[in-house]
Amino acid sequence: MPTPPSSDLKAIVLIPAAGSGRRMGTAISKQYLQLHGKPLLAHTIALFDQHPLVEAIYPIVPEDDSDYCRREILDKYRFTRVRRLVTGGKERQDSVRNGLKALAEDGYDQPERPILIHDGARPLFNPNLLPALLDDISAGGACIVAVPAKDTIKQVIQGQIVASPLRDQLWQAQTPQGFRFDILHKAFQQQDCNSVPATDDAALVAAAGYRVRVLAGEDRNIKITTPADLLIATALLDSYQEKSA
Ligand code: CTP
Ligand code: MG
Repeated sequence: MPTPPSSDLKAIVLIPAAGSGRRMGTAISKQYLQLHGKPLLAHTIALFDQHPLVEAIYPIVPEDDSDYCRREILDKYRFTRVRRLVTGGKERQDSVRNGLKALAEDGYDQPERPILIHDGARPLFNPNLLPALLDDISAGGACIVAVPAKDTIKQVIQGQIVASPLRDQLWQAQTPQGFRFDILHKAFQQQDCNSVPATDDAALVAAAGYRVRVLAGEDRNIKITTPADLLIATALLDSYQEKSA
């Protein structure tokens, strides 16, 4: 059967959630902390589980947690689009690489297939942005969600400012970050050869020579990193509930 045009291919979502949450500092890993009575990771999976533009979801979790995740998250919340759990790796990049391998094994490796990567620790992304994000991926091959920097950002080395880039050119990268499969695959192949240090996937794709578009996102899409973020996320969810009441 011929591969349908890119606009017909639904997205595959990788959800890296295999970190240890060192900066959160809690005994239980941050992706399982309760937020409005539900584990953080369950909130994140739910953003995509019912979406008509999503074909399959791959949560990526630590090897030792797979039974717990299956029982307390997948079975309990009856997610229907989760294809399978993937085992994470040492660094975030290793986790994403494992996810990419899994989706290719499952036959989702068409060159034009849109692959979205979304941090397990970002439960407040607004799924209404998905159509625009997928349009941009289809048109340009690579697009990330980001917001303009609010603070002035300094580059600091050994306690001293070495650069003060102009704030109006600075954006804070968020996730989802989305790429055609062939582009993401190439970027990870190059990473295997050159080992670019990177805290997001867009950096690898840009280092491999591809242009990456930016779609303006929303401030609410915070990454839960420290205890203060959990309080902010709780307040944001409270305010949405009040609005919909
Ligand atoms: N992540 C992952 N595999 C790793 C490291 C991180 O899948 N080896 C995931 C995290 O679970 C998280 C996302 O990548 O959903 C963003 O990472 P971050 O916020 O840094 O989470 P942690 O690495 O868990 O936190 P910390 O850096 O404070 O230890
Ligand atoms: Mg980390």
